[in-house]
Amino acid sequence: MVESCIVKISRSIILCLGLLLAACLPARLAKPGAATPGVAPATPASTSAIQETPTAASTPGANLPPARTNFPSCEPAAGLLPFKIASAQAIEKPTDAPSMRLLAKQHDLFIGTATDPGYLQNDSAASQLLAREFNMLVPEVAMKWEIIHPEPERYDFSRGDALVTFARQHGMAVRGHVLVWDLQMPAWVTNGQFTRQEWMQILCTHIKSVVSHYRGQIYAWDVVNEAVNQDGTLRNTFWMNKLGPEHIAMAFQWAREADPNAKLFYNDNGGEGLNPKSQGIYALVQGLQQTGVPIDGVGMQMHTSLGGAPPAIELSANMQRLAELGLEIHITEMDVRLQYSTSDNETKLAQQADIYQQVLSVCLSVHNCKAFLTWGLTDRYSWIPGFTGKPDAPLLYDKDGVPKPAYFAIVKLLANQ
Ligand code: GLA
Repeated sequence: MVESCIVKISRSIILCLGLLLAACLPARLAKPGAATPGVAPATPASTSAIQETPTAASTPGANLPPARTNFPSCEPAAGLLPFKIASAQAIEKPTDAPSMRLLAKQHDLFIGTATDPGYLQNDSAASQLLAREFNMLVPEVAMKWEIIHPEPERYDFSRGDALVTFARQHGMAVRGHVLVWDLQMPAWVTNGQFTRQEWMQILCTHIKSVVSHYRGQIYAWDVVNEAVNQDGTLRNTFWMNKLGPEHIAMAFQWAREADPNAKLFYNDNGGEGLNPKSQGIYALVQGLQQTGVPIDGVGMQMHTSLGGAPPAIELSANMQRLAELGLEIHITEMDVRLQYSTSDNETKLAQQADIYQQVLSVCLSVHNCKAFLTWGLTDRYSWIPGFTGKPDAPLLYDKDGVPKPAYFAIVKLLANQ
């Protein structure tokens, strides 16, 4: 009886997601999306697509009946005690110039970056910079599956705990990253041979164990990362293969059960402007909301490059329509590659500053855009040179932690708006 009920609910959710995506495809905009990490930037999209922002009446899936989610659940792995953090003094670092975090506070904005305890232990200047300038951090790898859950029965919270402790000591919030993604997973998962029921238990136990370990310590979790293709359809990810599209709804449900106060996000790249991908993301999150799935926000990664950033008018329209669904929006992983430009260095840095300023400016103009994070503290710690095999300087500070024009552009905007 219970089983047949679960099967029926699963089927109706597959049907809903299928209908949603099918319904959204004809409305797709016929132009390329933004760049995927590591791929040369797409041509900037034209602004004519703005008119195609769905209205409430024409939104794909708007008429679908709400359905309750009722998935099989699980308990966190035994022996995991809730993490306790020693209380520490939050600091508003006094400096001669106001820091980004001090200025951001006036805008009710989190300003953050990705980092790892390894960097902080070996580079005291970097950790001072992090604490002085940012009021949010996100673990670059420490909470990814291959690090935090390397073997079926073994979790390693040490790196995540170190970052959460650092954040607490310096009055910073933490974004949790990431629960469901098909990269940076351990071999026991990627090579695993399990039944569908077992995969469900594996994913459920992972999510519940990690989220409950950090219960009360995480402002927002990236629950599902990169599940949508450039054309707006659902990607054929590892978890899609194992569990079908309803794994997305399940993941949000399990995360909510494990920490009712953490905000739960869908996070992706290339759907920042208006394009088929952002249409697909919009339809997905709206469909999740309509079927009662607990989703609170959308993360826009914003890995971009000179000439590749989404037009501000599109970014603004996209954020606005998500905000109108009541969702919070975060810029989650911004960096701006210079390597595809042939201009001189000074010009490149000035153009990079403009892009950072423009994206932040849109964020400040949309009331539900609450966080702005870069993917790395300084150019020394950027993933881009390793990934592309070419030197680059995509962040706010150079390799030595010296602020670049992009930093000053952000400070200026935060101070003057
Ligand atoms: C994606 C992921 C991040 C990180 C970056 C770049 O955007 O969400 O965790 O891996 O790529 O490395």
